[in-house]
Amino acid sequence: MERTDDLKEKREALASALGRTDALMDDFLSVLKQDFGPGNKSSRDFSSVAEKILPDEEPEPETRNNREPEDERFHMSYEALCSDAMGCTRCQLCKTRTNVVFGIGCTDRPVVMVIGEGPGENEDLQGLPFVGKAGQYLDRWLAAISLSRDTNVYITNTVKCRPPQNRDPFPDEKSACFAYLKQQIQLIRPQSILCLGRPASTLMTGQADSSMGALRGRFFFFDGIPMMCTYHPAAVLRDLSLKRPVWEDLKKLAKYLGLAPAGGSNG
Ligand code: URA
Repeated sequence: MERTDDLKEKREALASALGRTDALMDDFLSVLKQDFGPGNKSSRDFSSVAEKILPDEEPEPETRNNREPEDERFHMSYEALCSDAMGCTRCQLCKTRTNVVFGIGCTDRPVVMVIGEGPGENEDLQGLPFVGKAGQYLDRWLAAISLSRDTNVYITNTVKCRPPQNRDPFPDEKSACFAYLKQQIQLIRPQSILCLGRPASTLMTGQADSSMGALRGRFFFFDGIPMMCTYHPAAVLRDLSLKRPVWEDLKKLAKYLGLAPAGGSNG
């Protein structure tokens, strides 16, 4: 019996590792296709790929870290950080908020940490992230890859207070709030990160000028944690043609994590 369990565990670990390798191969092949287009293998000159791998100068890493050790929030426990946020006046959003929306879900090594843009009206009223229409849609995406905010997901936002009229958070608001997010990541230690929409994706990748089309569907690393970017559920509700790319991105993340898609599409 013990031997069967052991074998099962080993098989699961192997399947998960193979999934990761396969996802990396997909990425590698797409680089090759971009660089050379379809064509005869023998005519391919791999020197530009070699240059990318071994550049003359150190490339800008796609990993973000830049923790400012002097910020007192980097020394706080999860509970202290949350209670600090409840009284935060570091930016102007504190003047118009009803509630601070800190985060919800699994706080100990969740499989995925979801990062949205900022609380909307319902979230501001309830003090909880993604509880409106976009949140219900997000829950369906998560369920489609066997994830749930009730068990193995943590959900938060780039800013913890609602921007008036649901405008995008301003850069100074995001940077005032960024230490909360970084310390949440440090304390919660998610196995992966999923950024929803452009404000979260540009902040977390450090690629401020990139479009969502350029950032989605790729793996980045934040503090060594694998990170995927995709469209925001609210954007998909406005433009249903984004459903397919989101589903592709979710499947890629699920494969990397060794998760079984629950079947069907993200509807
Ligand atoms: N949109 C977001 O980005 N975050 C929320 O919490 C709700 C809607």
